[in-house]
Amino acid sequence: MKEDRRFTPSAEFSKRARVRSHAEYRTMHQLSLDEPETFWREHTTDLVFRTPWKTFLEWSLPKARFFGGATLNLTETCLDRHLATEARTRAAIVFEGEPGDVRTLTYFELHREVVRLTAALADLGVVAGDRVAIYMGMVPEAAVAMLACARLGATHSVVFGGFSSDALRDRINDSGAKVLLTQDGAWRRGNVVPLKKMADDAVAQAPSIEKVVVLRRLGAGHTPVQMKEGKDIWWDDLLSRTASEASAKLARTPPAFDAEHPLFILYTSGSTGKPKGVLHTTAGYLAGVHITSKFVFDLREGDLYWCTADVGWVTGHSYLVYGPLSCGATVMMYEGAPNFPDWGRFWNIIEKHGVTILYTAPTAIRAFIRAGDDWPAKSDLSSLRLLGSVGEPINPEAWTWYHRVIGGGRCPIVDTWWQTETGAIMLTTLPGACYSKPGATGLPSFGVDIAVVKDDGSECSANEGGKLVVKRPWPSMARTLYKDDARYAESYWSQLPGVYFTGDGARRDEDGYFWVTGRIDDVLNVAGHRIGTAEIESALVSHPAVAEAAAVGKPDDLKGQALVVFVTLKAGQTADKLLKEKLTEHIDREIGKFARPDSIRFTDALPKTRSGKIMRRLLKEIASGAAETKGDTSTLEDLGVLAKLRADEE
Ligand code: PRX
Repeated sequence: MKEDRRFTPSAEFSKRARVRSHAEYRTMHQLSLDEPETFWREHTTDLVFRTPWKTFLEWSLPKARFFGGATLNLTETCLDRHLATEARTRAAIVFEGEPGDVRTLTYFELHREVVRLTAALADLGVVAGDRVAIYMGMVPEAAVAMLACARLGATHSVVFGGFSSDALRDRINDSGAKVLLTQDGAWRRGNVVPLKKMADDAVAQAPSIEKVVVLRRLGAGHTPVQMKEGKDIWWDDLLSRTASEASAKLARTPPAFDAEHPLFILYTSGSTGKPKGVLHTTAGYLAGVHITSKFVFDLREGDLYWCTADVGWVTGHSYLVYGPLSCGATVMMYEGAPNFPDWGRFWNIIEKHGVTILYTAPTAIRAFIRAGDDWPAKSDLSSLRLLGSVGEPINPEAWTWYHRVIGGGRCPIVDTWWQTETGAIMLTTLPGACYSKPGATGLPSFGVDIAVVKDDGSECSANEGGKLVVKRPWPSMARTLYKDDARYAESYWSQLPGVYFTGDGARRDEDGYFWVTGRIDDVLNVAGHRIGTAEIESALVSHPAVAEAAAVGKPDDLKGQALVVFVTLKAGQTADKLLKEKLTEHIDREIGKFARPDSIRFTDALPKTRSGKIMRRLLKEIASGAAETKGDTSTLEDLGVLAKLRADEE
């Protein structure tokens, strides 16, 4: 289906928006490319620098340094500066727990909590440059933890609470974190996710961890946790100790760091087995998330902005914590599942708190569609004024439903394309300035020089599919992969000379709108979760019954992509249901439940080239149920393998 409908923002929305017309957007974007110094000078005035920046960019591929000469403490932009304004008593975070408990932290209170934790961490011996791991659920303290690390200059590494203890252990060991912040457990669909228990298993094999700080989320009467003498400390006990004078002073008047001081490491999946420790630094990241939060979400006083992403992913970092807080926005934070106790939960939250901006993922939207229009119809959604989408391509049907049923036909939708590595939104429409086309992510963000190119690096013509690349560095880009400069250069800056390769395929239409089609490398996007095929494969072959494994994606109406794995077994193993269950549990343990295969298919052999490479393309076709193999099979070693695989189809 060719989708060429255009949805123009209402005159009323545009009139009040920060950028009001396409022409205004174009002028600003052009300026950001032609005269970046001028552009960013104007748009970094809200950021608190202790020493102003002198040079915008120093670039020697693949090393970039932005805002040279600047020093800052990022938390002064997100917290301290608001205390001198009316934002002091404004809610920074409105929290709703899955059981229904509600808590609000004003900017004053959030600042106070961050200062207290900063001092406490300093007293535990954490100093600037140390790494701190955070393995928590969606509670305000997760944001407090991140901000306290930033205030201290410690590099945080948030590990999504859905990861298993093995995955947590590997991430801690890679970063060498000194302290782990976690909680007794988190609520999820009425059950408890035993975070502390999993943290214990990880820490048992993570020698760098000196202290584990444990937040009481569940309280008395729930799964008791083991507190290890000398190592584990309750969060509230830690905070109730009187901080040393030096730490208290440091926390109150924190040091300023260089613009390129490391802010956080966030592990994500790549096309080889080991997760990538994407490293972001301070000033450029802050500038990127600030400007996009301000212009893309058009944040203004009175908004209650809700980003439903987990803090464990980059969307949670940039658009739940750093971006909106840098703007002084009020952020809604919800702990639990969208369908607990029923599919009306999100809509109930919107009505109850008066959410004005909702930012969520297509996979959630498709699940809501399936659950039926009766659920949103039960709630008054008239407080909403803007909707956002992120994480995967949104199909026009889901877009239209979101627009009509949730947005009541009046809310613009911003479809934002970006990545863990880009730090901030790269492609979007500005809600008051540009029309939207369902399924298109829109136009480049400020400072973003992006293109669709062919394999030889030349630009594709309008509507021609190619590789999505960024042609010059931008402030919020990742600076490296933690302790692996070579892999950073190789993964992003070497595939096509001189440009950043995103791993995505795309086309740009005659109006300049980008349509991102999805990953063209060995990375899958399953229900908005980024999963490396190699990660799944190495987890599977680490099981004693498995000889070889190949993971591929197949189109799925709900999840976007479903994960299908083909497995060959070692001699003497029986391919049966029980083994499938065991392999599923093995993935749960090695990675986490969210990475469970949707289908496991046993096979005698995998299709390989004569040089022994698994032909994933063919497996993908088979997984998708293609009756015929389309592509070239001339390099296939044994055509019989294909016929057999088809015959075995489930
Ligand atoms: O394939 C693109 C897809 O998600 C990938 C990045 O995943 P991650 O680093 O986990 O960050 C997700 C949240 C920013 C991209 O390479 N993706 C993200 N947003 C979109 C998208 N694909 C299409 N449209 C989007 N809006």
